[in-house]
Amino acid sequence: MTTAPRTPYEALGGAETFRRITDRFYDLMESDPAYAQLRAMHAPDLAPMRSALASFLGGWAGGPREWFEANPGRCMFSVHADFPIDADTADQWAEAMERAIDDAEIENADLAAQLSQRLTTMARGMAKVPA
Ligand code: HEM
Repeated sequence: MTTAPRTPYEALGGAETFRRITDRFYDLMESDPAYAQLRAMHAPDLAPMRSALASFLGGWAGGPREWFEANPGRCMFSVHADFPIDADTADQWAEAMERAIDDAEIENADLAAQLSQRLTTMARGMAKVPA
Protein backbone atom coordinates (compact mmCIF):
# COMPACT_ATOMS: atom_id res chain seq x y z
CA MET A 1 0.00 0.00 0.00
CA THR A 2 1.33 3.45 -0.85
CA THR A 3 0.73 6.33 1.49
CA ALA A 4 -0.05 9.78 0.16
CA PRO A 5 2.68 12.40 0.74
CA ARG A 6 1.96 14.21 3.97
CA THR A 7 3.70 17.52 3.49
CA PRO A 8 4.41 19.87 0.56
CA TYR A 9 8.08 19.10 1.24
CA GLU A 10 7.53 15.41 0.49
CA ALA A 11 5.16 16.06 -2.41
CA LEU A 12 7.72 18.38 -4.03
CA GLY A 13 10.48 15.75 -3.84
CA GLY A 14 12.17 16.36 -0.47
CA ALA A 15 15.67 17.64 0.26
CA GLU A 16 16.98 16.96 -3.22
CA THR A 17 14.36 19.24 -4.82
CA PHE A 18 15.04 22.10 -2.41
CA ARG A 19 18.78 21.80 -2.98
CA ARG A 20 18.22 21.82 -6.76
CA ILE A 21 16.00 24.90 -6.62
CA THR A 22 18.42 26.75 -4.35
CA ASP A 23 21.51 25.92 -6.38
CA ARG A 24 19.82 27.01 -9.58
CA PHE A 25 18.58 30.20 -7.89
CA TYR A 26 22.11 31.25 -6.86
CA ASP A 27 23.60 30.10 -10.17
CA LEU A 28 21.15 32.44 -11.92
CA MET A 29 21.92 35.22 -9.46
CA GLU A 30 25.64 34.83 -10.14
CA SER A 31 25.43 34.54 -13.92
CA ASP A 32 22.53 36.67 -15.19
CA PRO A 33 23.22 40.43 -15.28
CA ALA A 34 19.47 41.00 -14.76
CA TYR A 35 20.12 40.10 -11.11
CA ALA A 36 23.30 42.13 -10.63
CA GLN A 37 21.72 44.48 -8.08
CA LEU A 38 20.44 41.52 -6.06
CA ARG A 39 23.82 39.76 -6.31
CA ALA A 40 25.63 42.88 -5.06
CA MET A 41 23.59 42.85 -1.82
CA HIS A 42 24.92 39.38 -0.96
CA ALA A 43 28.31 38.37 0.46
CA PRO A 44 30.97 37.37 -2.11
CA ASP A 45 30.72 33.71 -1.05
CA LEU A 46 27.22 32.37 -1.69
CA ALA A 47 27.97 28.88 -0.32
CA PRO A 48 26.50 29.62 3.15
CA MET A 49 23.36 31.00 1.47
CA ARG A 50 22.98 27.90 -0.69
CA SER A 51 22.74 25.84 2.50
CA ALA A 52 20.69 28.33 4.52
CA LEU A 53 18.02 28.93 1.87
CA ALA A 54 17.61 25.21 1.05
CA SER A 55 17.32 24.44 4.75
CA PHE A 56 14.87 27.29 5.41
CA LEU A 57 12.64 26.45 2.44
CA GLY A 58 12.61 22.73 3.26
CA GLY A 59 11.57 23.37 6.87
CA TRP A 60 9.02 25.98 5.83
CA ALA A 61 7.45 23.43 3.44
CA GLY A 62 7.09 20.88 6.24
CA GLY A 63 10.45 19.09 6.08
CA PRO A 64 13.31 18.85 8.61
CA ARG A 65 13.44 21.96 10.76
CA GLU A 66 17.23 22.42 10.98
CA TRP A 67 17.19 26.10 10.00
CA PHE A 68 14.42 26.89 12.50
CA GLU A 69 16.18 24.95 15.27
CA ALA A 70 19.46 26.78 14.54
CA ASN A 71 17.62 30.12 14.50
CA PRO A 72 15.02 29.90 17.26
CA GLY A 73 12.36 32.58 16.99
CA ARG A 74 14.07 34.26 14.05
CA CYS A 75 11.55 35.76 11.64
CA MET A 76 12.42 35.83 7.92
CA PHE A 77 11.15 39.39 7.58
CA SER A 78 13.37 40.56 10.48
CA VAL A 79 16.36 38.82 8.82
CA HIS A 80 15.85 41.19 5.89
CA ALA A 81 14.91 44.32 7.81
CA ASP A 82 18.34 45.97 7.37
CA PHE A 83 18.75 45.22 3.66
CA PRO A 84 17.78 47.99 1.23
CA ILE A 85 15.15 45.89 -0.56
CA ASP A 86 13.04 47.87 -3.02
CA ALA A 87 10.46 46.78 -5.60
CA ASP A 88 13.19 46.10 -8.20
CA THR A 89 15.36 43.86 -6.01
CA ALA A 90 12.26 42.06 -4.67
CA ASP A 91 11.18 41.41 -8.28
CA GLN A 92 14.67 40.18 -9.17
CA TRP A 93 14.50 37.71 -6.27
CA ALA A 94 10.99 36.56 -7.23
CA GLU A 95 11.84 36.17 -10.93
CA ALA A 96 15.07 34.23 -10.30
CA MET A 97 13.20 31.97 -7.86
CA GLU A 98 10.36 31.40 -10.34
CA ARG A 99 12.91 30.41 -12.99
CA ALA A 100 14.76 28.15 -10.57
CA ILE A 101 11.52 26.36 -9.64
CA ASP A 102 10.61 25.96 -13.35
CA ASP A 103 14.07 24.59 -14.12
CA ALA A 104 13.82 22.08 -11.27
CA GLU A 105 11.16 20.22 -13.34
CA ILE A 106 9.10 19.25 -10.33
CA GLU A 107 6.68 16.46 -11.14
CA ASN A 108 3.78 17.99 -9.21
CA ALA A 109 3.33 21.07 -11.41
CA ASP A 110 0.39 22.46 -9.42
CA LEU A 111 2.33 22.44 -6.19
CA ALA A 112 5.40 23.89 -7.93
CA ALA A 113 3.23 26.76 -9.23
CA GLN A 114 1.88 27.36 -5.71
CA LEU A 115 5.42 27.39 -4.32
CA SER A 116 6.44 29.98 -6.89
CA GLN A 117 3.42 32.13 -6.19
CA ARG A 118 3.85 32.08 -2.41
CA LEU A 119 7.54 32.92 -2.59
CA THR A 120 6.80 35.79 -4.98
CA THR A 121 4.26 37.15 -2.49
CA MET A 122 6.78 36.79 0.34
CA ALA A 123 9.57 38.52 -1.62
CA ARG A 124 7.31 41.43 -2.64
CA GLY A 125 6.22 41.78 0.99
CA MET A 126 9.87 42.40 1.92
CA ALA A 127 10.20 45.47 -0.31
CA LYS A 128 10.35 48.69 1.68
CA VAL A 129 7.84 51.28 0.60
CA PRO A 130 9.73 54.42 -0.49
CA ALA A 131 9.27 57.26 2.00
C1 HEM B 1 12.85 40.30 -1.45
C2 HEM B 1 14.03 40.05 -1.98
C3 HEM B 1 15.16 39.50 -1.15
C4 HEM B 1 16.42 40.02 -1.07
C5 HEM B 1 16.92 41.25 -1.79
C6 HEM B 1 17.15 39.19 -0.15
C7 HEM B 1 18.46 39.40 0.23
C8 HEM B 1 19.13 38.71 1.21
C9 HEM B 1 20.47 39.00 1.67
C10 HEM B 1 21.35 40.15 1.14
C11 HEM B 1 20.79 38.10 2.61
C12 HEM B 1 22.14 38.00 3.37
C13 HEM B 1 23.00 37.14 2.52
C14 HEM B 1 24.47 37.14 2.82
O1 HEM B 1 24.87 37.39 3.96
O2 HEM B 1 25.22 36.85 1.87
C15 HEM B 1 19.66 37.22 2.77
C16 HEM B 1 19.61 36.15 3.64
C17 HEM B 1 18.63 35.21 3.61
N1 HEM B 1 17.48 35.25 2.88
FE1 HEM B 1 16.92 36.69 1.59
N2 HEM B 1 16.36 38.17 0.29
C18 HEM B 1 15.12 38.33 -0.29
C19 HEM B 1 14.04 37.51 -0.11
C20 HEM B 1 14.05 36.34 0.58
C21 HEM B 1 12.93 35.44 0.71
C22 HEM B 1 11.55 35.68 0.10
C23 HEM B 1 13.37 34.38 1.45
C24 HEM B 1 12.66 33.16 1.89
C25 HEM B 1 11.57 32.69 1.34
C26 HEM B 1 14.75 34.62 1.81
C27 HEM B 1 15.55 33.78 2.55
C28 HEM B 1 16.77 34.10 3.09
C29 HEM B 1 17.51 33.25 4.02
C30 HEM B 1 17.09 31.87 4.53
C31 HEM B 1 18.66 33.95 4.36
C32 HEM B 1 19.79 33.48 5.31
C33 HEM B 1 19.42 33.77 6.71
C34 HEM B 1 20.41 33.10 7.65
O3 HEM B 1 20.38 31.87 7.75
O4 HEM B 1 21.18 33.84 8.27
N3 HEM B 1 15.13 35.81 1.26
N4 HEM B 1 18.67 37.60 1.91
